[in-house]
This record gives sequence, C-alpha cells and structure tokens, in this order.
Amino acid sequence: MRHIMVLNSKGGSGKTTLATSLAAYYAGRDEKVTLVDCDRQASSLDWLERRPETRPKITGVAGFDQGMRGVPRGTDVVIIDAPAGCHGRDLQDLVRRVETVVVPVLPSTIDITASSKFIDALREVGKVERKEVKLAVVGNRVRESTLISQELDDYLSKLRMPYVTKLREAQNYVRAYTRGLGIHELPEYLAWPDWEQWKPLVSWLNSKRSQPQ
Ligand SMILES: Nc1ncnc2c1ncn2[C@@H]1O[C@H](COP(=O)(O)OP(=O)(O)OP(=O)(O)O)[C@@H](O)[C@H]1O
Ligand SMILES: [Mg+2]
Repeated sequence: MRHIMVLNSKGGSGKTTLATSLAAYYAGRDEKVTLVDCDRQASSLDWLERRPETRPKITGVAGFDQGMRGVPRGTDVVIIDAPAGCHGRDLQDLVRRVETVVVPVLPSTIDITASSKFIDALREVGKVERKEVKLAVVGNRVRESTLISQELDDYLSKLRMPYVTKLREAQNYVRAYTRGLGIHELPEYLAWPDWEQWKPLVSWLNSKRSQPQ
C-alpha cells in the first residue's frame, strides 16, 4: 500500500485540487484508492459526494476524525489531503504516515514566502531528514506570462528537491471539482493541455524516485 500526501501549511495552495485529481487518476488505472481527508473542512469528502457512481470508485475516509484507521485492507493507493496550518508536532504526525509528499506552491509573494518557511520546517522532520520520505514541489495556478510566475519558477528550481511540474491556472480544475471528477476525467479536447502538465508528476509518482528504498 502506498501513501501519497499533498501538503503545504499555506491555505489555498491547491492541496485538495491535486489530491482529488490524483485519487481519480489512480482509480482510473484500476487501483483500489482511498482518499483520506485530514482537513475538517472536508472538501475532499465533499468532492467524493459529488462523484458520479459511473466513475471508478474511491473510498473516502474522514482522517480528521479517525486518522488512517478507516483505510480498508487491500487499498493499493492512499491519497491524503492535508489541512492548512500544519506545524510542529502535527506536521510530524502527518508525515509519519507517508512515503511520498507533494507540495503545491502558488505564484504569489505571500505563498512563496510562507511555503519557503514551511519547506524548511518539513526538511527538519526526522523522517524527511532520514530520507524515509520523498518530497517534490509543484507550481500551481501558473500564468506563464507573469513576472510572479517567473519568480516562482526561480524559487522552485533552486530548492534541493524535485520540481516536477507546473500546473496552469484553469477553469478545468474548478469544473472537475464541481462534477466530482479528476482532471483526467474531463474531455480530452478541454483538458489535454492539463494532461500534458500532469505527465511529469505522474511519471515521478510512478517511478522509484518518489519511493524511499
Ligand atoms: N490550477 C488551478 N486553476 C484554477 N483554480 C485552481 C487551481 N488550483 C486550485 N484552484 C482553486 O483554488 C482554490 C483553492 O484550492 P484548494 O481548495 O485545492 O486549495 P487547498 O490547499 O486545499 O486549500 P485549503 O488550505 O483551504 O485546504 C479553489 O477554489 C480551487 O478550485
Ligand atoms: Mg483543502
């Protein structure tokens, strides 16, 4: 069973957006997927309620109440949607449960500054220091022509960790959430540019580079 967490203490960075699309992506590959929502806002579980029954099944677990206890045996992939504002002991407890962490960061000075402090703290977590968990960063809501997206690109490129992809700002993500779908479940003619941007992320996740030895 593998555990992938989408984590950033900064609110609104795209954790739920990435977690829901990742869950749908793996479900679409015939994996048994459990989506653990560790945020009391429960946006991932709300998304699951919107999910059409005709789509590949994803099990939801209210991680904010029961931790990982509700994850059914036989799950192949556990996707964990982390809450904002996670620091200190809470951060250690969250990271203890996973082998892979994806950190989305938005192109804004507030987000870059806050995420930079968060990534420093994340690196000091024992399990990360011991390389028992693999980290990657993802730029999210990127608008290529803007100066701040260039600044985000510079910042993420200089971190000593994989900067796997950047995802554009797109209504497709809003649409997908509303319909209980992942980005890969939208029609190709709408979402193909997003699929292209997801390729390096899923390829990293499907490689040994994202899994500790
Ligand atoms: N690439 C994107 N393009 C357009 N909108 C996006 C994108 N990513 C996220 N959003 C929107 O940004 C908002 C915040 O995203 P999301 O809820 O996924 O962030 P979060 O990190 O889970 O927030 P929180 O910290 O509150 O849990 C949502 O309205 C979402 O639809
Ligand atoms: Mg969220």
